[in-house]
Amino acid sequence: HVHQHAQAHESAVKHVTGRAAYIDDLKAPADTLHIALGLSPVAHGRLTHLDLARIRALPGVVDAVGLDDVPGHTDIGPVFPGDPIFVEEEISYAGQVLFAVAAESYRAAREAVKAAFDANMITVDVELPSLDAVAAAERGEFVRPTHVQQRGDWEKALSDAAHVIEGEQFVGGQEHFYLEGQACLVTPTEDEGVVVHTSNQHPSETQKLVAEVLGIALHAVTVEVRRMGGGFGGKETQASPWACIAALFCRRTGRAARVRLPRSEDMRATGKRHPFHNRYRLGVDQNGIIQGGEITVIGDCGYSPDLSDAIVDRAMFHSDNAYSLGAARVTGHRARTHTASNTAFRGFGGPQGMMAIEAAMDDIARHLGEDPLTVRKRNFYRKDHQTTRRDITHYGQPVDQTGLLHTLVEQLEASSDYWARREEIAAFNAQSSVIKKGLALTPVKFGISFTAKHLNQAGALLHVYTDGSVMINHGGTEMGQGLHTKITQVVARELGLDVNVVRISATRTDKVPNTSPTAASSGADLNGQAARDASVKLKARLFDFAADHFFPGQGADSDDMRLEAGYLIAGYGESEQRIPWGELVQAAYFGRVSLSEKGFYATPLIHYDRSVGQGNPFYYYAFGAAVSEVSVDTLSGEYQVTRVDILHDVGDSLNPAIDIGQVEGGFIQGMGWLTSEELKWNDAGQLLSTGPATYKIPTFGDLPPVFNVALMEGHPNSMASIYRSKAVGEPPFMLAISVWSALRDALASLAGYREAPRLDTPATPERVLLAAEALRAQE
Ligand code: MTE
Ligand code: MOS
Repeated sequence: HVHQHAQAHESAVKHVTGRAAYIDDLKAPADTLHIALGLSPVAHGRLTHLDLARIRALPGVVDAVGLDDVPGHTDIGPVFPGDPIFVEEEISYAGQVLFAVAAESYRAAREAVKAAFDANMITVDVELPSLDAVAAAERGEFVRPTHVQQRGDWEKALSDAAHVIEGEQFVGGQEHFYLEGQACLVTPTEDEGVVVHTSNQHPSETQKLVAEVLGIALHAVTVEVRRMGGGFGGKETQASPWACIAALFCRRTGRAARVRLPRSEDMRATGKRHPFHNRYRLGVDQNGIIQGGEITVIGDCGYSPDLSDAIVDRAMFHSDNAYSLGAARVTGHRARTHTASNTAFRGFGGPQGMMAIEAAMDDIARHLGEDPLTVRKRNFYRKDHQTTRRDITHYGQPVDQTGLLHTLVEQLEASSDYWARREEIAAFNAQSSVIKKGLALTPVKFGISFTAKHLNQAGALLHVYTDGSVMINHGGTEMGQGLHTKITQVVARELGLDVNVVRISATRTDKVPNTSPTAASSGADLNGQAARDASVKLKARLFDFAADHFFPGQGADSDDMRLEAGYLIAGYGESEQRIPWGELVQAAYFGRVSLSEKGFYATPLIHYDRSVGQGNPFYYYAFGAAVSEVSVDTLSGEYQVTRVDILHDVGDSLNPAIDIGQVEGGFIQGMGWLTSEELKWNDAGQLLSTGPATYKIPTFGDLPPVFNVALMEGHPNSMASIYRSKAVGEPPFMLAISVWSALRDALASLAGYREAPRLDTPATPERVLLAAEALRAQE
């Protein structure tokens, strides 16, 4: 287990000393072109006039392009068509790219864009934008067809139920706010190809789109990603357009070209987390246990499909969170509006779906006069109902490891002192008229796997050099989550080496081809298995060689050998023989044994039949739970998150230090989503929150003063994942729902805990204040 310990991030020192290179740090040829984008100022309308000839004549400008200048495909939709690289005629959102300018300097490029608008080299007609996703859904304006998951007689369950709980909510979107904005640098190759350096979660897709836009073969495009300054889903599809545009200039001029989006343009041009409108109608028995019902989620997709089909599916897959819905129908709509095309963001729709059932849990508890935790626990998936099968989701997948969820929550209840604090808070609130405290424990059950089955594959390429140093490449990208660290640990563990002997250079499409995006939290699961596969194969070859070379005639076979602590060790105890790794590698080289190997992995067992909405889309589930406490000033709406306790399941952790970091970061990012991060558009559909001054992400000062984070011990993954670990990238994000539920708890105290007030998100102080005033008005 030496390599399982808390290894520091491979770039930790570089990160904190500023030596980690991001795209804008890369040295470029002196004649590199700088690109500025002409973004639509209107959300809906028509491009009536674009005089590129005049724009090309502006000072410092080398080239300017619009849709007609694209030699190949003009639609760069990642999964479904719908995303023109430049507007042809119809404008679909404010921030859409109309044209691009390449100039000798960044300043000249930006000034040219401004001049083009000021001098009417470009004109647009304005039409009314459609900005209300619910209204759009009612009119049937969808980017993709509606999908339904259904199990059992939900109507009967509703009509037979002791109580029917109904509600609706608006769940806000979220700006990714990766610290490194969208950026790329494209350089030409001598055989008319391009090399694309990009801050990007999906190099293979960018390779394909760049090739299609230029009308050249994929082998002429190489995409390289060393690291991102954060991606969070925002660079899964939405890093490609900039690479395509830069590649276009590169191809037209033969010069390198770079794009870096200023923050405000990044925020206007790129899609965000989908805002959702959720409705639920659930029938419960006397004990508040859900018997069935229906949940409808409407995702606001923006103007085009992008990844919305899968994102709204994932919202549906998680509208149960950790609770059996009984006989249920879940419907997911994909509404089209005139905003940027909303996209992947940590949790991929899952968080928005979970909000529906977590709201319902609070509602049920208030209705019955029970503690919300009691109601939640009663509704957990469980194995002990042989006839009712309360271990099967509404999409037909049995939930494994339900016992783990129960144990985890019991442990957290105890370690967080939930029940004693519940009483203290009730006593405090009874004597405090203005400041009200709230407490909530919410669980997370998150399905691991891409729901698009074909994406669940990965490759790796392993080289051992003659000095014994090891290079591993794999299909995953590093965005700060520590994937490269984990993969080097896997290889080091298999080859019995110190992690420092193993290096990952960068993710490159010419090293490992046809890769999936680094997303769905599956980076370590998939690429870790691929890297392990390569290591195991190479190891077997070295053992075969060693048997003949070092132990001839001794009948040694590979079962008696292992790689450990820098040695090949053959035999056991007295007869043990040790060959240093370097010597083994040297000998194998002179023995003409290949020291290079590729690995591959495809997740077994998963399937989902979308035509009936049933299947086993997830290889396994990751669990967790959080207890949050808040203190609310009910006269101003201002509040603080005063204490958070988290217990999270990562199976047998690949790296507890990194996993704890993921849990903390995910939680805080989720807290920002549900509390302070508010996207605002004006009635014309222009985004008003376009920077840190108008869009508030959590800062250091927002950390809860008491923040206890622990990993669940002693529960390896029941599935054969890499070393029985579990994915950690996204699940902790949803632990932050406990903060929102705690705010509702504090507000409920104003109504004698008989009612859970509706609290849309983000639950900003304004929204909290309005909810408090509404409750006070009722008294
Ligand atoms: N952690 C950091 N530091 N930066 C990121 O951009 N992205 C998250 C998560 N953790 C992200 C992160 C998202 S959205 C996903 S899907 C996973 O990391 C992707 O990486 P993994 O599959 O290797 O966990
Ligand atoms: Mo993460 S939203 O799957 O990139």
